[in-house]
Amino acid sequence: MRPFIAGNWKMNNGPIRGKAFFEEIKEFPREKAQVVIFPPFPTLPQVKELAERKAIALGGQNLYWREKGAFTGEVSAEMLVEAGADFVLVGHSERRNIFGETDELINLKLKAALKWGLKPVLCVGEHLGEREEGRTMEKIKFQLDADLSGIDPHRLIIAYEPIWAIGTGKNATPDQAEEVHAFIKEYLGNIKVLYGGSVKPENAFSLMKQPHIDGVLVGGASLKPDSFYDIIMAGVKAFEEKG
Ligand code: 13P
Repeated sequence: MRPFIAGNWKMNNGPIRGKAFFEEIKEFPREKAQVVIFPPFPTLPQVKELAERKAIALGGQNLYWREKGAFTGEVSAEMLVEAGADFVLVGHSERRNIFGETDELINLKLKAALKWGLKPVLCVGEHLGEREEGRTMEKIKFQLDADLSGIDPHRLIIAYEPIWAIGTGKNATPDQAEEVHAFIKEYLGNIKVLYGGSVKPENAFSLMKQPHIDGVLVGGASLKPDSFYDIIMAGVKAFEEKG
């Protein structure tokens, strides 16, 4: 087993900065970690070769479910494949909360991604109020049921990203994350579940040391080659110790 370390650049690192990142990042032991970066669309094809040289795969941050046509501003699964993506994020909380994506739309997006051979990383997570009311598992179950309707969960990766932990510097504790990961695996079977939300070099090891945490989805700390490399190596060490 090796850790799955993913970096979601969000609306950062255009082609120029993106290329510099891949030139600068140090080589990690390839057989010991699976690493994916999700750059903005214009950066994707520009960094494909550089990323390959460093054994880093690429993914899209979003897609539209229709194949082509009059959908101004949207990008299809086929276009992502053509641009060099192997993965795609679906249902990130910023897509849900800022852009109003519904579970019905997310379900269609997952189906489109799978049809084109992209591996979706489906993001789920609760708001602070839901956690405080003790409704975390209920919320996660609701999202999984709705988003995965008609889909074999084994075909994708789940990212548990508590909304209160995203970009706040306030990560879920390893125990809090572990509890939700164990629940997701019990509910869906043994699939990969990543943790996301204020992952940093300082907390990456203790999170990935948890038995049900298979890797991390990193936002802010994935923008700089050094901090992202340190997170990769924290995962390598955690998985060596987990055995
Ligand atoms: P931060 O690591 O910046 O909290 O972002 C997490 C995230 O949303 C990754 O998809």
